[in-house]
Amino acid sequence: MKYASQAVAKPYFIAAIGLFVGQILFGLILGLQYVVGDFLFPEIPFNVARMVHTNLLIVWLLFGFMGAAYYLVPEESERELFSPKLALAMFWIFLAAGALTILGYLLVPYARLADMTGNALLPTMGREFLEQPTITKLGIVVVALAFIYNIGMTVLKGRKTAVSLILLMGLLGLAVLFLFSFYNPENLVKDKFYWWWVVHLWVEGVWELILGAILAFVLIKTTGVDREVIEKWLYVIIAMTLITGIIGTGHHYYWIGTPEYWQWWGSVFSALEPVPFFMITVFAFNMVNRRRRDHPNKAATLWALGTAVMAFLGAGVWGFLHTLSPINYYTHGTQITAAHAHMSFYGAYVMIVLTIISYAMPMLRGRKAANSERSQVLEMWSFWLMTVSMVFITLFLTGAGILQVFLQRFSDNPQPFMVVQDKIALFYWMREVAGVVFLIGLGCYVASFFVGSRDTERALSAAGQEPAAA
Ligand code: HEM
Ligand code: HEM
Ligand SMILES: [Fe+2]
Repeated sequence: MKYASQAVAKPYFIAAIGLFVGQILFGLILGLQYVVGDFLFPEIPFNVARMVHTNLLIVWLLFGFMGAAYYLVPEESERELFSPKLALAMFWIFLAAGALTILGYLLVPYARLADMTGNALLPTMGREFLEQPTITKLGIVVVALAFIYNIGMTVLKGRKTAVSLILLMGLLGLAVLFLFSFYNPENLVKDKFYWWWVVHLWVEGVWELILGAILAFVLIKTTGVDREVIEKWLYVIIAMTLITGIIGTGHHYYWIGTPEYWQWWGSVFSALEPVPFFMITVFAFNMVNRRRRDHPNKAATLWALGTAVMAFLGAGVWGFLHTLSPINYYTHGTQITAAHAHMSFYGAYVMIVLTIISYAMPMLRGRKAANSERSQVLEMWSFWLMTVSMVFITLFLTGAGILQVFLQRFSDNPQPFMVVQDKIALFYWMREVAGVVFLIGLGCYVASFFVGSRDTERALSAAGQEPAAA
């Protein structure tokens, strides 16, 4: 580690992994409830488990992004973090707010939670992904402001690089767009219209800048390719992201009561959204092929390449599948959507966070540039188990989705929703099995942190050094 203050990234990464485990456990509960309808009812109803699954996902990804920023910004800026104390304080506030919110979902009926937290004063609750009580949302704003201040001051006072500036732009965009979660108009069309400014403009806009910056950082470090080359790629990628992604929001405006021109704007611009994702794939492979050094952390390089491939498949290919309005007319809100949602979130954002954790954690734990061979082998096993099972989850949901669209919306005598759900139950069982394999992969991932320090110690003592505290 070059700067002592980078250490604040460590609790952020640990919290991210802990919440990730929780997210997957709730995913498995949901998957089982799909086929065993009264599983855990009334203790954990489907709507509550779903909210916990998706909110944990968002929260742990945010922990991951913040950890990534605290780790890479000092190194890019060539100075210590502006205030490590503030970063640590915000860590505990964010963790406490997140834990209380999840407990609130699980222990209190949602309507009562809304009453208890003063939702009547400033109603923001009840919308998918934005279910958090208004006070939690205010807490998120406070944490985000403190975080941006801390990162912003570090960047401004230090060396400015394309990586740190693009990361900062992405993080600022994330915070500013979140403010639309406080706008909750009575008119349902307006409500949905601006809801997508948070949800779509996050994942297909500003988060892509964060992804690009983190990926570029890891590639600079692991390949040794000139920063200038990597920065040029980064500029073109983020330009294409914004050119296609902003107006691409229109692919959510087809059926919510907005003017008809959105059919064209949404279809044309979002059909181009796969372009930046494809450029990310070409970029990552190119840089690794042109590498000037063989970095000992093989696992981190594998995660970086995996992100580049899976983000393109999940967002680019599975997004394109249903983005043209005449197709979306049939697929809207079906298992096709869920298939895309899983592979894109996993491929782009889960994997980029695991990439930076894989790269940074060995250093944060005083293990030099990489974990032991044994630990890396286990981590690579976890990469393949999680990634391959996510491919299967996606394929099973796509199968379910195609049948669902056909039986429920396309055939000559369309059948009711629940009748169709019964007919495609086999796909849901197979999804659940793939989900269990995913959990096993995640178990290997967690286990890899506890493996192999002995090898490190042996190597260090052979070199006549004291082993650093793990
Ligand atoms: C990493 C980037 C992406 C992520 C994380 C992501 C995630 C999601 C999620 C979670 C939904 C479901 C939202 C809901 O609850 O209704 C969704 C919907 C959708 N996404 Fe993406 N997406 C990404 C990129 C893309 C791209 C590049 C395209 C187009 C090429 C695309 C096209 C769509 C469409 C058309 C829908 C609406 C589906 C429907 O009508 O039900 N997405 N996306
Ligand atoms: C890292 C891995 C995962 C990610 C990133 C993820 C992400 C998501 C997202 C974004 C949604 C909302 C989808 C939408 O609105 O269209 C969702 C819903 C869901 N997830 Fe996951 N998930 C993961 C793992 C799992 C696993 C392992 C299972 C179970 C085997 C699972 C089961 C479900 C179910 C059943 C839903 C609800 C779908 C519905 O409402 O019909 N997820 N997940
Ligand atoms: Fe979108």
